[in-house]
Amino acid sequence: MITALRGMKDLLPPENQKYQYFVTHASRIARRYGFDLIETPILEETALFKRSVGESSDIVGKEMYQFVDKGDNDVCMRPEGTAGVVRAFIEAKYDRVGGTYRFFYHGPMYRYERPQKGRLRQFHQFGCEVFGESNVTEDASLILMIRDIFDFFGIRYAVKINSLGCPSCMPGYKQTLVSHLNDISDGLCEDCNRRIAANPLRVLDCKTESCKTLLTEAPILRNHLCETCAVELETLCAILDRHAVPYEIDSKLVRGLDYYSKTAFEFTSPDIGAQSAIAGGGRYDRLVEFLGGKPTAGIGFAIGIERIMDLITLPEIQRDGIYLGGMIAEAIPALFDAATHLRKSVAATVGYEAKGLKGHLKSADRANARWCAVIGGDEWAAGTVWVKDLVTKEERTVAMRELILTVGAAQ
Ligand code: HAM
Repeated sequence: MITALRGMKDLLPPENQKYQYFVTHASRIARRYGFDLIETPILEETALFKRSVGESSDIVGKEMYQFVDKGDNDVCMRPEGTAGVVRAFIEAKYDRVGGTYRFFYHGPMYRYERPQKGRLRQFHQFGCEVFGESNVTEDASLILMIRDIFDFFGIRYAVKINSLGCPSCMPGYKQTLVSHLNDISDGLCEDCNRRIAANPLRVLDCKTESCKTLLTEAPILRNHLCETCAVELETLCAILDRHAVPYEIDSKLVRGLDYYSKTAFEFTSPDIGAQSAIAGGGRYDRLVEFLGGKPTAGIGFAIGIERIMDLITLPEIQRDGIYLGGMIAEAIPALFDAATHLRKSVAATVGYEAKGLKGHLKSADRANARWCAVIGGDEWAAGTVWVKDLVTKEERTVAMRELILTVGAAQ
């Protein structure tokens, strides 16, 4: 038997209904904040991710679904959504027009990670990206929007924020950090030692206990921010305070992607186990320029949909539509024709095989239909149909025309 690839999951009912429910309401909330849907291809040139997510990141270094296609192009299944949206933004020349653009997207992302609970190789994100807005109020607005989304679904969360500085304060801090890391490098793990040269900030993020202990003395970025970055972080905190967002400043929050500067944030859930990050994002004010566009501020986030799936409860599904069945074979074409009419306004399912009333009631129940309409020998002779409302339990025998009119109008 051929099975799905490791780390890739089928989305079957009712799980896919949860997915749709989440995407519908997250999109509705995003639209309220001024976002429009954008769709970009799953496959992009590998160079796009190398340049944006960064060569030193785990995503590019170890996790890309990368291959050479039949036209000899080096391509990659998107490991995340931001890079493609930025590419599309520049390609559409929005950077030259100027102004503010807000996009949301949802869909599959691919990372060749070691699968475990909450970590898949194909997973789905709901993401938002904003271009042309450098005011830190937008950073706060995105965090409030994520809060609105999680609140709508009753998902509990904790928020961590940090500032990763800008070109005027980050290089100085990096130097101070590298010199400190070199001093303690003997005690750090192999991964950390590799990262000191490639991406020293990621050392702060190491999950190894011995490294964590050693790193408590590491210089803190927050103490090295320039005036602008420090004031922006203060402003962000003030807005979050004003809106009662429970957050924590985490000076070690660096995120695993290289394109961030200034604000970075992460939402975690206390209810889902080790892979607790349910959303992450931040500012990437230099990325548009880095990918060949006109300098344009950028900020965004993505929610990992699989991670919150277990936390979403679907509203009770109401019985809906009609099931039509025949106890005699001659009636089935007439029922099929009636269903074709009814489908212009309601959901209609037809049983193609003649069977007894009990069997039809069972099928109607399985289809979660509101009505069960059945034609037996007597009804067929009289040109009528027996119909039961499965909610009120009321039963009637009516003319087929009347059934189409009343059921069709009842929705
Ligand atoms: P990220 O933190 O890499 O950020 O991913 C965002 C979210 O995707 C994570 O918080 C997590 O919930 C989910 N996620 C990541 N990897 C997996 C996986 N292997 N299996 C299941 N869920 C996963 C980004 O992707 C950035 N593009 C976010 C962003 C948008 N920053 C600015 N704009």
